[in-house]
Amino acid sequence: MEAFNTFITNIYPYIAVTIFLLGSWLRYDHGAYTWRAASSQMLSPRGMWFASNVFHIGIIFLILAHIVGVVAFGSVSDWPLTVSFVCGFLILIGGGYLVLRRLGNVRVRITSNRSDTLVIALLVLMAILGLVMTEMKDMAPYVIEHYPDAMEPYLKGTVDIAILHRALGWTILAIFPFTRLVHIWSIPLGYLFRRYQLVRARR
Ligand code: HEM
Repeated sequence: MEAFNTFITNIYPYIAVTIFLLGSWLRYDHGAYTWRAASSQMLSPRGMWFASNVFHIGIIFLILAHIVGVVAFGSVSDWPLTVSFVCGFLILIGGGYLVLRRLGNVRVRITSNRSDTLVIALLVLMAILGLVMTEMKDMAPYVIEHYPDAMEPYLKGTVDIAILHRALGWTILAIFPFTRLVHIWSIPLGYLFRRYQLVRARR
C-alpha cells in the first residue's frame, strides 16, 4: 500500500501530464475532425439548459480552485477547498442528471460512445469522492474519539479515499486526449470579444 501511495503521489502525476500533453497534440494533429464537444442537446434538449450550465459552472470553478490549491498551497486546502466543496455539489446535481440522461434517454444513449458515458460518470464519481473525503477529514477527530474501531482501517491506510481520489483524478487527465474532453482546449473565449453578428431578415 505504501508503495502504491508513493507511486500515485510522486510518479503518476508526471505520467498523466505527459500523456495529456502528447496525446492532445497527436489527436489535434491526426484527428482534427474528431475534435469536438459532441453536444447531444439537439437530440434531447429537455433539462439541458439547467443541468449543463450547473455542471459546467461547477467543473470550471472546481478546476481553477484545484489548480490554485495545488500550486499555491501544495494541496487542495484553505479557501480552494471551500470552493471545491460548493462546486462538488453543483457537479453532483448537474452531472448526476447528465449521467441519468445519457443512460436513460434512448436517442442520447444510442448516439453515445463508451467514452462519453465513462467521462461524465467518472467526473460525478470524483465529486462524490471529494465530498466524502472532505467530510471524513472534518469528522475524523470526532469519530476517532467515539468509535475508534470504525476508524481503524482508515488509520492503517487500507482504505484511503484521498489516494483513490488522486489516482482517479490523474487518470481523468491521462484519458483526456482520447475523449470529448478535448473541447476544453478550445475554450471559445473569442465569443466574449468578437463583434456582433448582423442578421437580416430576407424581406
Ligand atoms: C470532478 C471532480 C474532481 C476532480 C477531477 C478532482 C481531481 C483531483 C486531483 C487530480 C487531485 C490531486 C491533486 C494532487 O495530486 O495534489 C485532487 C486532490 C484533492 N481534491 Fe479533488 N477533484 C474533484 C472533486 C473534488 C471535490 C468535490 C472536492 C471536495 C471539496 C475535492 C477535494 C480535493 C482535496 C481535499 C484534494 C487533496 C487530497 C490530498 O491531499 O490527497 N476534489 N483532486
